[in-house]
Amino acid sequence: MKNRNYLNSAGAAIMSDRTVEVITDYLKLEQQIGGYEAMFASAEEQAIFYTRVQVLINANDVTEIAYTDGGSRGWNSLLNGLDQNTVDSFVTLSSEYVTNITTLKILADKYNKPLHIIPCKIDGSFEIDLLAEKVVMGKCCIAISEATAQGSIVNPIEAIGEIAQKNNAIYIVDGTQSTGQIPIDVQAMKCHAFTANGRKWLRGPRGTGFMFIKSGAPFTTQILDGSSSRAYSVNGEIKVDVVDTARQFEMWERCIGNMLGLSQAIKEYLDLGPTTVHEQIVKYANQIRKTICGNENIFLVGKVGSKSGIIGFIAKDEETHIRISDLFSKNDITISVVNEWACPLFFDKKTQVYRLAAHHDVSPKRIEKLCKVISEV
Ligand SMILES: Cc1ncc(COP(=O)(O)O)c(C=O)c1O
Repeated sequence: MKNRNYLNSAGAAIMSDRTVEVITDYLKLEQQIGGYEAMFASAEEQAIFYTRVQVLINANDVTEIAYTDGGSRGWNSLLNGLDQNTVDSFVTLSSEYVTNITTLKILADKYNKPLHIIPCKIDGSFEIDLLAEKVVMGKCCIAISEATAQGSIVNPIEAIGEIAQKNNAIYIVDGTQSTGQIPIDVQAMKCHAFTANGRKWLRGPRGTGFMFIKSGAPFTTQILDGSSSRAYSVNGEIKVDVVDTARQFEMWERCIGNMLGLSQAIKEYLDLGPTTVHEQIVKYANQIRKTICGNENIFLVGKVGSKSGIIGFIAKDEETHIRISDLFSKNDITISVVNEWACPLFFDKKTQVYRLAAHHDVSPKRIEKLCKVISEV
C-alpha cells in the first residue's frame, strides 16, 4: 500500500501500524491465555474505549456510548429501538445512503407512518424550509447524515438540530462519513442519537463502530443477551432487567481486539487534534476540487467549498469514464466508484461516480500527482 496513492478513506482508511499492533497483540494474548481470560485481563483498556468516544463526540457521559460493529448496525438498532409512540412521521433526504433509506422505509411501512424524503440537487442542497414544514406537521423523527457518501456534501446538521428542538422532534444523525474527518459535537447538533463506524475516516478496523444515545432519549433495544440484560426467577416467574445505559444495545460477544484497535485509532486522532486533521483534509480536497472544476470533461458531485474530504465526480461520457479508470490504475491511484446502489434516490441507474477521499497523511506530492492525472483526463 505504501507504494500506492490511496484515496479510498471514505470506503476504509488505512490503519496505523500501532493500531494493527494493538489488534494483533490482543489476538496473541487470546492465543496465550484464552479468549475469556484475555477479556478479563483487558477490562481497563476496554473501559477506556468508552471514554475516548465520549471525548471524540463531546457526549455528556460514558453511559451514552455503545460499541457496535458498523454504521448500518447502529442506524438499524436505533430506529428499530425508537419508541414509536413518540413519532408519527419520518423525515430524511434524498441524498441518503442506502441503509438509511431502507431502514426508514421498512419502519414507515411497518407502522403505517409517512416517510417524507426532501429532494436534494446534485450539489446536495435542499430546501430547509420544506424540511421544517414537514417537521412542524406532527411528532416527527428526523434521521439524516452529516456528510454523505457520494461527494462533497455536508448537511446543515446544526440548523436541522434547531428545527428538531423547536418542534420536539426526535433527531438521529449518521456520522459515518464525518467522524474522523470533521470534528464532532453532539451537543451542538442537539441530536438524540448519533452513529458512526470505525473503518472510515477514524482509521479503525473493519467491523467496528459506536453509537451515542442521549441520556433519557426514547430508544430501547429490541435484541437482548446476558450482558445487555439480566434474567432471573421470582417465585417461578421470569423477570428481565435491561441495562439502563446505551450499552443495552451491545452484545456480549465481539472481537475485543478490534474494539481495542478502534480505541487506539481514536486515541491517535484525538492526539493529532480533530481540527488539525480536518484542516489538512479540506486543504487537499479543495486542491482536488479546484482541479476537477478546471476540467470540462468531468463535473463535481457536491459543492466546491465543501468542508468534506469526500469528492465525487462524473465523466461527461462513457469513453471518458473508461479512460479515467485506465489513467488511475496506470498511476497506482486507489479510488472507488459510487452509484445508485449506495444512493438509490440520488442517482439514476446509469450514473457512475468516481470517489476520491484523501486522508490528512497522504503526502502533498501524491496529491499533486493526482491533480496532474485529473487535469489530463
Ligand atoms: C453515509 C453512510 N452511512 C452509513 C454507512 C454504513 O456504514 P457501514 O458500512 O459501517 O454499515 C455508510 C457506508 O458507506 C455511509 O457512507
